[in-house]
Amino acid sequence: MKEELKKTEQEALKSLEATSDRQGVNLLRTRYLGRKGVMTQCLRGISTVPAADRPEAGRLANEVKTRLEVAFREAIERLDADSKEPSGGLDVTLPGRSFARGRLHPITQVTQAISEIFLRLGFEIAEGPNVELDYYNFEALNIPKDHPARDMQDTFYISDDVVLRTHTSPIQIRVMEKRSPPIRIIAPGKVYRVDSDVSHTPMFHQIEGLMVGENISFGDLKGILTTLVHQIFDEETSLRFRPSFFPFTEPSAEVDIQCVICRGKGCRVCSHTGWLEVLGAGMVHPAVFEMVGYDTDRYTGFAFGMGIERIAMLKYGIDDIRKFYENDIRFLEQF
Ligand code: PHE
Repeated sequence: MKEELKKTEQEALKSLEATSDRQGVNLLRTRYLGRKGVMTQCLRGISTVPAADRPEAGRLANEVKTRLEVAFREAIERLDADSKEPSGGLDVTLPGRSFARGRLHPITQVTQAISEIFLRLGFEIAEGPNVELDYYNFEALNIPKDHPARDMQDTFYISDDVVLRTHTSPIQIRVMEKRSPPIRIIAPGKVYRVDSDVSHTPMFHQIEGLMVGENISFGDLKGILTTLVHQIFDEETSLRFRPSFFPFTEPSAEVDIQCVICRGKGCRVCSHTGWLEVLGAGMVHPAVFEMVGYDTDRYTGFAFGMGIERIAMLKYGIDDIRKFYENDIRFLEQF
Protein backbone atom coordinates (compact mmCIF):
# COMPACT_ATOMS: atom_id res chain seq x y z
CA MET A 1 0.00 0.00 0.00
CA LYS A 2 2.72 2.37 1.07
CA GLU A 3 4.75 1.70 -2.05
CA GLU A 4 1.73 2.01 -4.23
CA LEU A 5 0.87 5.44 -2.77
CA LYS A 6 4.41 6.67 -3.26
CA LYS A 7 4.39 5.54 -6.87
CA THR A 8 1.06 7.18 -7.55
CA GLU A 9 2.26 10.46 -6.07
CA GLN A 10 5.46 10.48 -8.11
CA GLU A 11 3.61 9.58 -11.28
CA ALA A 12 1.08 12.35 -10.76
CA LEU A 13 3.69 15.00 -10.05
CA LYS A 14 5.72 13.97 -13.06
CA SER A 15 2.77 14.16 -15.43
CA LEU A 16 1.81 17.50 -13.92
CA GLU A 17 5.27 18.88 -14.56
CA ALA A 18 5.07 17.79 -18.19
CA THR A 19 1.74 19.57 -18.74
CA SER A 20 1.70 23.23 -19.68
CA ASP A 21 -1.89 24.02 -20.52
CA ARG A 22 -4.97 24.48 -18.40
CA GLN A 23 -6.98 21.78 -20.12
CA GLY A 24 -4.26 19.18 -19.60
CA VAL A 25 -3.93 20.08 -15.93
CA ASN A 26 -7.67 19.78 -15.46
CA LEU A 27 -7.71 16.35 -17.07
CA LEU A 28 -4.90 15.15 -14.81
CA ARG A 29 -6.60 16.55 -11.76
CA THR A 30 -9.75 14.62 -12.61
CA ARG A 31 -7.73 11.48 -13.16
CA TYR A 32 -6.00 11.66 -9.79
CA LEU A 33 -8.32 13.64 -7.54
CA GLY A 34 -11.72 13.31 -9.22
CA ARG A 35 -14.68 11.56 -7.68
CA LYS A 36 -13.79 8.37 -9.54
CA GLY A 37 -10.05 9.12 -9.59
CA VAL A 38 -7.00 7.17 -8.48
CA MET A 39 -6.82 8.68 -4.99
CA THR A 40 -10.48 7.96 -4.29
CA GLN A 41 -9.87 4.31 -5.28
CA CYS A 42 -6.83 4.22 -2.97
CA LEU A 43 -8.76 5.57 -0.02
CA ARG A 44 -11.51 3.03 -0.68
CA GLY A 45 -8.91 0.29 -0.84
CA ILE A 46 -7.87 1.01 2.73
CA SER A 47 -10.74 -1.12 4.00
CA THR A 48 -8.92 -4.17 2.63
CA VAL A 49 -5.69 -3.41 4.56
CA PRO A 50 -5.21 -5.55 7.72
CA ALA A 51 -6.79 -3.84 10.70
CA ALA A 52 -3.47 -3.21 12.44
CA ASP A 53 -1.99 -1.25 9.53
CA ARG A 54 -5.16 0.56 8.62
CA PRO A 55 -4.67 3.84 10.61
CA GLU A 56 -1.15 4.27 9.22
CA ALA A 57 -2.32 3.59 5.64
CA GLY A 58 -5.21 6.05 6.01
CA ARG A 59 -2.93 8.76 7.30
CA LEU A 60 -0.46 8.23 4.45
CA ALA A 61 -3.17 8.25 1.80
CA ASN A 62 -4.64 11.48 3.15
CA GLU A 63 -1.22 13.12 3.22
CA VAL A 64 -0.58 12.20 -0.41
CA LYS A 65 -3.99 13.45 -1.40
CA THR A 66 -3.40 16.79 0.32
CA ARG A 67 0.02 17.21 -1.30
CA LEU A 68 -1.44 16.51 -4.73
CA GLU A 69 -4.26 18.97 -4.16
CA VAL A 70 -1.74 21.69 -3.28
CA ALA A 71 0.41 20.85 -6.31
CA PHE A 72 -2.55 21.06 -8.69
CA ARG A 73 -3.80 24.31 -7.18
CA GLU A 74 -0.37 25.87 -7.54
CA ALA A 75 -0.04 24.67 -11.13
CA ILE A 76 -3.38 26.26 -12.03
CA GLU A 77 -2.48 29.51 -10.31
CA ARG A 78 0.75 29.65 -12.26
CA LEU A 79 -1.05 29.08 -15.55
CA ASP A 80 -3.63 31.75 -14.72
CA ALA A 81 -0.91 34.26 -13.88
CA ASP A 82 0.91 33.49 -17.14
CA SER A 83 -2.17 33.90 -19.26
CA LYS A 84 -2.62 37.44 -17.91
CA GLU A 85 0.62 38.53 -19.44
CA PRO A 86 0.20 40.17 -22.83
CA SER A 87 2.53 37.74 -24.53
CA GLY A 88 0.50 34.86 -23.16
CA GLY A 89 -3.26 34.70 -23.47
CA LEU A 90 -4.36 38.05 -24.87
CA ASP A 91 -5.66 37.79 -28.42
CA VAL A 92 -5.90 41.35 -29.72
CA THR A 93 -7.67 40.20 -32.87
CA LEU A 94 -10.78 39.00 -31.00
CA PRO A 95 -13.87 41.20 -31.49
CA GLY A 96 -14.81 43.25 -28.43
CA ARG A 97 -17.64 42.27 -26.11
CA SER A 98 -20.70 44.47 -26.50
CA PHE A 99 -22.71 45.54 -23.48
CA ALA A 100 -26.50 45.32 -23.68
CA ARG A 101 -27.86 48.64 -22.46
CA GLY A 102 -31.31 49.02 -20.98
CA ARG A 103 -33.48 52.09 -21.45
CA LEU A 104 -36.66 53.65 -20.12
CA HIS A 105 -40.01 52.52 -21.50
CA PRO A 106 -41.41 55.06 -24.02
CA ILE A 107 -44.37 55.77 -21.71
CA THR A 108 -41.95 56.54 -18.87
CA GLN A 109 -39.96 58.81 -21.17
CA VAL A 110 -43.03 60.78 -22.26
CA THR A 111 -44.28 60.98 -18.63
CA GLN A 112 -40.93 62.40 -17.56
CA ALA A 113 -40.81 64.88 -20.45
CA ILE A 114 -44.30 66.19 -19.60
CA SER A 115 -43.50 66.29 -15.87
CA GLU A 116 -40.38 68.36 -16.55
CA ILE A 117 -42.39 70.93 -18.48
CA PHE A 118 -44.76 71.32 -15.51
CA LEU A 119 -41.96 71.39 -12.96
CA ARG A 120 -40.52 74.36 -14.84
CA LEU A 121 -43.96 76.04 -14.57
CA GLY A 122 -43.88 75.67 -10.78
CA PHE A 123 -46.06 72.56 -10.44
CA GLU A 124 -45.35 69.78 -7.94
CA ILE A 125 -45.87 66.05 -8.49
CA ALA A 126 -48.56 64.29 -6.46
CA GLU A 127 -49.52 60.63 -6.18
CA GLY A 128 -52.46 58.51 -5.15
CA PRO A 129 -53.35 54.81 -4.87
CA ASN A 130 -54.28 52.67 -7.90
CA VAL A 131 -56.82 50.79 -5.80
CA GLU A 132 -59.14 53.61 -4.85
CA LEU A 133 -62.22 54.25 -2.77
CA ASP A 134 -65.43 54.86 -4.68
CA TYR A 135 -65.62 58.08 -2.70
CA TYR A 136 -62.48 59.57 -4.27
CA ASN A 137 -62.92 58.10 -7.74
CA PHE A 138 -66.56 59.19 -8.08
CA GLU A 139 -68.50 60.62 -5.15
CA ALA A 140 -66.21 63.52 -4.21
CA LEU A 141 -65.86 64.37 -7.92
CA ASN A 142 -69.56 65.08 -8.14
CA ILE A 143 -70.24 61.83 -10.00
CA PRO A 144 -73.52 60.63 -8.54
CA LYS A 145 -74.40 56.99 -8.00
CA ASP A 146 -76.40 56.70 -11.24
CA HIS A 147 -73.84 58.37 -13.53
CA PRO A 148 -72.96 56.32 -16.65
CA ALA A 149 -69.22 56.61 -15.83
CA ARG A 150 -69.87 54.19 -12.96
CA ASP A 151 -71.28 51.58 -15.29
CA MET A 152 -69.99 48.08 -14.52
CA GLN A 153 -68.76 47.99 -18.14
CA ASP A 154 -66.14 50.68 -17.56
CA THR A 155 -65.05 50.18 -13.99
CA PHE A 156 -63.13 47.33 -12.40
CA TYR A 157 -64.81 46.85 -9.04
CA ILE A 158 -62.84 45.32 -6.17
CA SER A 159 -65.89 45.52 -3.91
CA ASP A 160 -68.95 47.74 -3.59
CA ASP A 161 -66.98 50.77 -2.53
CA VAL A 162 -63.45 49.95 -3.79
CA VAL A 163 -62.43 50.26 -7.46
CA LEU A 164 -59.34 50.35 -9.64
CA ARG A 165 -59.19 54.08 -10.32
CA THR A 166 -60.68 54.89 -13.73
CA HIS A 167 -58.84 58.24 -13.96
CA THR A 168 -56.24 60.25 -12.05
CA SER A 169 -58.84 62.82 -10.90
CA PRO A 170 -59.23 61.25 -7.40
CA ILE A 171 -55.74 62.60 -6.68
CA GLN A 172 -57.20 66.13 -6.98
CA ILE A 173 -59.44 65.36 -4.01
CA ARG A 174 -56.69 63.68 -1.97
CA VAL A 175 -54.44 66.72 -2.43
CA MET A 176 -57.15 69.31 -1.69
CA GLU A 177 -58.25 67.41 1.46
CA LYS A 178 -54.74 67.74 2.87
CA ARG A 179 -53.75 71.23 1.74
CA SER A 180 -55.22 74.65 1.23
CA PRO A 181 -54.70 76.88 -1.83
CA PRO A 182 -52.62 77.93 -3.64
CA ILE A 183 -52.21 74.51 -5.27
CA ARG A 184 -50.32 73.65 -8.41
CA ILE A 185 -49.89 69.90 -8.92
CA ILE A 186 -49.70 67.32 -11.62
CA ALA A 187 -50.33 63.64 -10.94
CA PRO A 188 -49.13 61.02 -13.41
CA GLY A 189 -50.19 57.41 -12.98
CA LYS A 190 -51.86 54.23 -14.13
CA VAL A 191 -55.62 54.08 -14.61
CA TYR A 192 -57.91 51.15 -15.43
CA ARG A 193 -61.00 50.64 -17.56
CA VAL A 194 -62.77 47.57 -18.92
CA ASP A 195 -61.82 48.21 -22.53
CA SER A 196 -59.49 46.61 -25.10
CA ASP A 197 -58.87 47.31 -28.82
CA VAL A 198 -56.34 49.11 -31.10
CA SER A 199 -56.74 52.35 -29.18
CA HIS A 200 -57.65 51.04 -25.69
CA THR A 201 -55.86 48.86 -23.14
CA PRO A 202 -57.42 47.88 -19.76
CA MET A 203 -54.57 49.73 -18.08
CA PHE A 204 -53.23 53.02 -19.42
CA HIS A 205 -51.66 56.21 -18.10
CA GLN A 206 -52.93 59.69 -17.46
CA ILE A 207 -51.50 62.94 -16.18
CA GLU A 208 -53.81 64.99 -14.04
CA GLY A 209 -53.29 68.70 -13.52
CA LEU A 210 -54.81 70.95 -10.88
CA MET A 211 -54.29 74.61 -10.14
CA VAL A 212 -56.31 76.37 -7.42
CA GLY A 213 -55.98 79.86 -6.00
CA GLU A 214 -57.46 83.33 -6.09
CA ASN A 215 -58.32 84.67 -9.53
CA ILE A 216 -57.44 81.55 -11.48
CA SER A 217 -59.28 81.79 -14.80
CA PHE A 218 -60.00 79.79 -17.91
CA GLY A 219 -57.36 82.02 -19.54
CA ASP A 220 -54.73 80.50 -17.21
CA LEU A 221 -55.86 77.04 -18.27
CA LYS A 222 -55.53 77.96 -21.94
CA GLY A 223 -52.11 79.50 -21.37
CA ILE A 224 -50.72 76.48 -19.49
CA LEU A 225 -52.09 73.95 -21.98
CA THR A 226 -50.87 75.95 -24.98
CA THR A 227 -47.36 76.11 -23.47
CA LEU A 228 -47.51 72.38 -22.82
CA VAL A 229 -48.53 71.45 -26.38
CA HIS A 230 -45.97 73.79 -27.90
CA GLN A 231 -43.24 72.21 -25.80
CA ILE A 232 -44.23 68.58 -26.43
CA PHE A 233 -44.78 69.04 -30.16
CA ASP A 234 -43.80 72.44 -31.59
CA GLU A 235 -44.79 76.10 -31.62
CA GLU A 236 -46.77 75.71 -34.84
CA THR A 237 -49.22 73.18 -33.37
CA SER A 238 -52.50 74.98 -32.69
CA LEU A 239 -55.10 74.06 -30.06
CA ARG A 240 -58.89 74.06 -30.12
CA PHE A 241 -61.15 74.11 -27.04
CA ARG A 242 -64.56 72.48 -27.57
CA PRO A 243 -67.38 72.76 -25.01
CA SER A 244 -67.87 69.44 -23.23
CA PHE A 245 -69.15 67.96 -20.00
CA PHE A 246 -67.47 66.50 -16.91
CA PRO A 247 -69.35 66.31 -13.61
CA PHE A 248 -66.36 67.78 -11.75
CA THR A 249 -65.69 70.82 -13.96
CA GLU A 250 -67.86 73.72 -15.13
CA PRO A 251 -67.43 74.94 -17.79
CA SER A 252 -65.76 71.86 -19.28
CA ALA A 253 -63.81 71.51 -22.48
CA GLU A 254 -62.31 68.90 -24.67
CA VAL A 255 -59.00 70.05 -26.10
CA ASP A 256 -57.91 69.14 -29.62
CA ILE A 257 -54.55 69.77 -31.21
CA GLN A 258 -53.95 70.26 -34.89
CA CYS A 259 -53.15 66.84 -36.38
CA VAL A 260 -49.39 66.41 -36.03
CA ILE A 261 -49.33 63.87 -38.86
CA CYS A 262 -51.00 65.88 -41.67
CA ARG A 263 -50.68 69.38 -40.15
CA GLY A 264 -54.43 69.90 -40.28
CA LYS A 265 -54.99 68.90 -43.90
CA GLY A 266 -56.89 65.75 -42.96
CA CYS A 267 -55.62 62.16 -42.87
CA ARG A 268 -56.47 58.68 -41.60
CA VAL A 269 -55.09 59.35 -38.10
CA CYS A 270 -57.36 62.40 -37.54
CA SER A 271 -60.31 60.82 -39.42
CA HIS A 272 -59.93 63.62 -42.01
CA THR A 273 -60.91 66.32 -39.51
CA GLY A 274 -57.45 67.86 -39.15
CA TRP A 275 -57.82 67.71 -35.32
CA LEU A 276 -56.90 65.24 -32.60
CA GLU A 277 -58.53 65.08 -29.18
CA VAL A 278 -55.83 64.93 -26.50
CA LEU A 279 -57.33 65.92 -23.17
CA GLY A 280 -60.29 66.87 -21.02
CA ALA A 281 -60.26 70.00 -18.89
CA GLY A 282 -62.33 72.66 -17.19
CA MET A 283 -62.82 74.96 -14.21
CA VAL A 284 -63.16 73.02 -10.95
CA HIS A 285 -66.87 72.64 -10.12
CA PRO A 286 -67.93 74.47 -6.93
CA ALA A 287 -69.52 71.22 -5.73
CA VAL A 288 -66.03 69.65 -5.69
CA PHE A 289 -64.63 72.57 -3.66
CA GLU A 290 -67.47 72.13 -1.20
CA MET A 291 -66.60 68.43 -0.78
CA VAL A 292 -63.09 69.40 0.38
CA GLY A 293 -64.21 72.42 2.39
CA TYR A 294 -62.79 75.20 0.22
CA ASP A 295 -64.37 78.66 0.19
CA THR A 296 -66.05 78.83 -3.21
CA ASP A 297 -66.32 82.64 -3.05
CA ARG A 298 -62.61 83.03 -2.62
CA TYR A 299 -61.07 80.27 -4.73
CA THR A 300 -61.30 79.17 -8.32
CA GLY A 301 -59.20 76.65 -10.20
CA PHE A 302 -58.80 74.55 -13.27
CA ALA A 303 -58.11 70.85 -13.82
CA PHE A 304 -57.21 68.73 -16.78
CA GLY A 305 -56.50 65.10 -17.54
CA MET A 306 -54.67 63.71 -20.51
CA GLY A 307 -53.86 60.25 -21.81
CA ILE A 308 -50.12 59.64 -21.98
CA GLU A 309 -50.29 56.76 -24.48
CA ARG A 310 -52.17 59.01 -26.90
CA ILE A 311 -49.46 61.67 -26.71
CA ALA A 312 -46.71 59.05 -27.10
CA MET A 313 -48.46 57.53 -30.13
CA LEU A 314 -48.68 60.93 -31.82
CA LYS A 315 -45.14 61.89 -30.90
CA TYR A 316 -43.64 58.67 -32.25
CA GLY A 317 -46.18 57.80 -34.97
CA ILE A 318 -47.37 54.54 -33.34
CA ASP A 319 -50.69 53.20 -34.63
CA ASP A 320 -51.51 50.47 -32.09
CA ILE A 321 -51.58 51.19 -28.35
CA ARG A 322 -51.12 47.49 -27.51
CA LYS A 323 -47.54 47.62 -28.80
CA PHE A 324 -46.55 49.47 -25.60
CA TYR A 325 -47.42 46.43 -23.49
CA GLU A 326 -46.35 43.46 -25.60
CA ASN A 327 -42.77 43.81 -24.32
CA ASP A 328 -41.29 43.17 -27.75
CA ILE A 329 -37.67 44.30 -27.38
CA ARG A 330 -37.46 45.19 -31.09
CA PHE A 331 -40.27 47.71 -30.61
CA LEU A 332 -39.06 49.10 -27.27
CA GLU A 333 -35.46 49.51 -28.45
CA GLN A 334 -36.49 52.19 -30.92
CA PHE A 335 -37.16 54.83 -28.28
N1 PHE B 1 -60.80 62.60 -15.60
C1 PHE B 1 -61.25 62.92 -16.93
C2 PHE B 1 -61.17 61.65 -17.80
O1 PHE B 1 -60.54 60.71 -17.43
C3 PHE B 1 -60.40 63.99 -17.57
C4 PHE B 1 -60.51 65.32 -16.88
C5 PHE B 1 -59.67 65.63 -15.82
C6 PHE B 1 -61.47 66.25 -17.25
C7 PHE B 1 -59.76 66.85 -15.19
C8 PHE B 1 -61.57 67.47 -16.64
C9 PHE B 1 -60.72 67.78 -15.61
O2 PHE B 1 -61.76 61.60 -18.87
